Amino acid sequence: MQKKVPKALNKSFKSPKRQITEHSLIISILMEEKGLLEEQAWRLLEFYSGIGGMRYSAIKAGLNAQMVEAFDINDLANDVYEHNFGHRPFQANIQTLSATDLDRYRANVWLLSPPCQPYTRQGLQKQSADARASSFLQILEIIPQLKLPPSMLFVENVVGFETSDTHEKMIQILEENQFVTQEFILSPLQFGVPYSHPRYFCLAKRKPLAFSNPEFNRQLLHVPKPLLDENDELKTCLPIETFLEFGKDFQPNGVLEGSINQYLVPSNLIERWGNAMDVVYPDSKRCCCFTKSYYRYVKGTGSLLATIMPITRDKTSLEELFLKYFTPREVSNLHSFPKEFEFLPHVTLRQRYALL
Ligand SMILES: C[S@@+](CC[C@H](N)C(=O)[O-])C[C@H]1O[C@@H](n2cnc3c(N)ncnc32)[C@H](O)[C@@H]1O
Repeated sequence: MQKKVPKALNKSFKSPKRQITEHSLIISILMEEKGLLEEQAWRLLEFYSGIGGMRYSAIKAGLNAQMVEAFDINDLANDVYEHNFGHRPFQANIQTLSATDLDRYRANVWLLSPPCQPYTRQGLQKQSADARASSFLQILEIIPQLKLPPSMLFVENVVGFETSDTHEKMIQILEENQFVTQEFILSPLQFGVPYSHPRYFCLAKRKPLAFSNPEFNRQLLHVPKPLLDENDELKTCLPIETFLEFGKDFQPNGVLEGSINQYLVPSNLIERWGNAMDVVYPDSKRCCCFTKSYYRYVKGTGSLLATIMPITRDKTSLEELFLKYFTPREVSNLHSFPKEFEFLPHVTLRQRYALL
């Protein structure tokens, strides 16, 4: 494995080329304030940093920004984050952070991707009554106590969050603290990536900052169009093969993680669950969302890939397709992680899928 040169924590990042994905698009909207993008390095805090998806989005958005601190309670996620960014997130329960702690960072942008389980269709949907929801509301409730409150917030969650009571409370807290909001449900499919993964996003700016399209304030939009520059073009979806480790165009920076055999779906699972499997082909332009249980269970956890292109799809049995799981590298490609991203060798296959 190649040795990485760690980036200093306080080094600002500036990407030369703006790439459009749903996250980066939304983050750039936060920065649309005239001139601010160039003039000032934004001081970012990344709450619930996981393996750094938000940080990669900020880099892709081409922000002139400094990641002042990241916070996550998960040791293994922090190992992976540290490996890729050269900085270990502050390992603590976000619930324990005080106004004094936060003021010390003098941050003007907060990125937050709190746990999704309280709002997922598969879960109990306890919403704000779920213990996993409390740290998020608590951190927002601290805002009025801050001497240096953030100027902008970017929140990501699952579809379902927008109808929850946590959402209602979030909007209420933001309004009470002079924030204007715009909300979106966007999917990688709208940005040329063949991955059906709709997500909820909320952008918030504290007055006197304002959105350049205030007519969309307090609205939930399902299309990115109003956010695009005149010169931005949305791509039509690329085929899945572009995102595969040995696909036509994708050049990975490593080799397949372990033997191909570990990714093949065993015949007994095909026999038992074949009818419930979402099977896709290298030329497909859509695959389903991968859950944390992908690879542990086959039913409803994400698509499986046919490694053989049959002549007649309808008449070929699943056994003949040599179905395989998407590798963690392939899943991270579909999540628009850069090709430099890598796991540490001690992170097991199941843990990789769970972290993604
Ligand atoms: C939805 S994931 C965020 C994923 C992240 N954006 C990424 O790119 O990997 C939620 C993360 O929040 C962390 N987390 C959940 N509750 C927390 C808490 N109370 N304090 C700190 N971290 C927490 C979890 O460990 C998990 O990594």
